[in-house]
Amino acid sequence: MIPGEPLGAGIRIFAVSDLHVDYSSNMDWVNALPGNDHAQDILIVAGDVTHDLERLKSALGTLREKFARVCYVPGNHELWIDRRETQHSLDKFHEVLALCRSLAVNVEPERVSRPDGTAVWVVPLYSWYVTPEEGHGSLFAPKPGEDPSLRMWADRYYVKWPPQPGSQRAADYFLQLNEAWVQRPYDAPVISFSHFLPRADLMLRTPFERSRYGNGPRDPYPEFNFSRVAGCSALDDQLRRIGSSVHVYGHQHRNRWRSIDGVLYVSNCLGYPHAADGQESLPRRLWQVWGDRIPAH
Ligand SMILES: [Fe+2]
Repeated sequence: MIPGEPLGAGIRIFAVSDLHVDYSSNMDWVNALPGNDHAQDILIVAGDVTHDLERLKSALGTLREKFARVCYVPGNHELWIDRRETQHSLDKFHEVLALCRSLAVNVEPERVSRPDGTAVWVVPLYSWYVTPEEGHGSLFAPKPGEDPSLRMWADRYYVKWPPQPGSQRAADYFLQLNEAWVQRPYDAPVISFSHFLPRADLMLRTPFERSRYGNGPRDPYPEFNFSRVAGCSALDDQLRRIGSSVHVYGHQHRNRWRSIDGVLYVSNCLGYPHAADGQESLPRRLWQVWGDRIPAH
């Protein structure tokens, strides 16, 4: 399928994130996705496929064979580096983007049109989290008994930033990459996506969700406060400036389908294949976020 060429009238957009294909059962799940069903469809992959470039190439290449388009942003796992290497995580980020371009995986906004001329924009938003120590825009909420050192958080050991002139935060680096896309006009509905969370209120279940699904799993790590590394609120400013009607995100392994102030926020994480690490066991299927006959989630 040539980029820019109209897709079929029945085009659909699906979303998934956190494929974590380092787990063989997750890679098996990717390999088992039916290609014939999706030959006219778009798949949004909202980050955390793997830190391993060969495995990333294999997973994205497989998805690229099954879908007309694959749209992707790196997550924090993709930016992990071997501490023995001289490379830093921004080098890795750009290496991942170059790999995507070589596979014809979309890492920039694309207008997707139907034969009748109707269209939709799919817009990636790069991002990182703002810790409470970094100041404004953090999604931090205090948690009694938490360990503020984030001793359990693997990014502390596997993410290495280059020395920054001044005090630019990692999150600001990625947000400024989006600015050219945020400031341009869009002539059709916009679906945006990021790996990290754009809002603090997405972290917890609403009273309605609790009444329907319960409180979720017991907290296995009371000392770990996810809100320290969840995302940043400037992402929400950006997606609203571009007029997103749907925003897909990942990272938390908590699935959501929630409308807030005119935007539908969707998170559909494949997650880890076991619940022993405290993650919820999540339904393992793609979620349709655009197109005719969208099923309820
Ligand atoms: Fe993540």
